[in-house]
Amino acid sequence: MKIYSEKKNINIAIQDLKTKNLKIGLVPTMGALHRGHLALVERALDNNDKVVVSVFVNPTQFDNKEDLKKYPRTLDKDVALLKTLSKDRIIVYAPTVNDIYEGNTVAQDFDFDGLEHEMEGKFRDGHFDGVGTIVKRFFEIVKPHNAYFGEKDFQQLQIIKKLVEKHSIPVKIVGCPIYRETTGLAMSSRNTRLKPEYLEAAPFIYKTLTAAKKQFGTKSANKITEWVENQFAKNELLELEYFIIADAETLKSVKRKSSKKSYRAFIAAYADDIRLIDNIALN
Ligand code: PAJ
Repeated sequence: MKIYSEKKNINIAIQDLKTKNLKIGLVPTMGALHRGHLALVERALDNNDKVVVSVFVNPTQFDNKEDLKKYPRTLDKDVALLKTLSKDRIIVYAPTVNDIYEGNTVAQDFDFDGLEHEMEGKFRDGHFDGVGTIVKRFFEIVKPHNAYFGEKDFQQLQIIKKLVEKHSIPVKIVGCPIYRETTGLAMSSRNTRLKPEYLEAAPFIYKTLTAAKKQFGTKSANKITEWVENQFAKNELLELEYFIIADAETLKSVKRKSSKKSYRAFIAAYADDIRLIDNIALN
C-alpha cells in the first residue's frame, strides 16, 4: 500500500492516475479508523478505481486544545485496517501539519450561507472554517471525482456540499449513512476515550433520538425538545449541550412543520469531558 506524507510526492502519484484516466475517490479522515470510516472507504472502492484516504488530525478545526492533544493517533493500525479492504487500490495520504499548512497553520474565512452559524458552529468557534480549509486543500491536491462524507457529521456534509457549490469545485459529494455499535451508539474515534461507565451510558443518546422520532408525527418540535431536555436532566452521566429539530437543508430549527420538507434531530452531549454528536432523520 502506498503511503504519502509529502505533497510533492502525492502530486506525482495523482498526476500518474490522471494520465491513466483512472477514477479517483477521496475519503478524508482524522484517523483512528473504525467501521464507520471503513464503510465510507468500501463505498468509495465500489465506485472508483483508486481511493485516497487522508489521515490528518487537522489543528485548525479544533477550538479545544485539550481535545486536539488527546485526539487518538494510530496510523499503523489505520493502515493495517485499510489493507484488509484492498492493498493495491487504496492510497494513504498522511501529511504533516507543516507540509500541508506550509508554516501558516490558520484557517481561511468561509461563508457557507449561514450553515456555519447553526448547531456545531455555535458551540465550536471557527470549526467549520478549519474543516473548509483542509477539505478544500485536499480537493486541490487529490483532485477526486468523488468524495465521501458520513451523515454522522450531517452539518459538515451539508457545508462541504456548499463549499463545492460556492467554489465550483468539480467533485461529487457522496453522503453515507451513520454506522453504529450494536448498542446504537454512533461510531466515533472519540469513543475509544470513554471510560467504561460512560461507554455504557452513551447509547442513551441514540435511544433518545429514536424516541424523539416516534413523537415527531404527533407532537410539536418544542414539545419534543422539552421532553428530550427533561430526559437528559435525569441522566447523571450525560450532559446535553443541545437538542434541535432542524430543516435538513437549511439546518435552521423548525418552528412549524411542513410536509414538503425533510427534518432531522441533532444532539450534542458530553460524556465526562468527551463531546459526542449524533443525529437522525425524522421523516
Ligand atoms: P473524522 O471524524 O475522522 O470523520 C471522517 C469521516 O468519517 C467523516 O465524513 C465522518 O462523517 C465519517 N464518519 C465518522 N463516524 C462515522 C460513522 N459512525 N458512520 C458514518 N460515517 C462516519 O470528519 C472529520 O474526520 C474531519 O472533519 C475531516 C472531514 C476529515 C476534515 O478534517
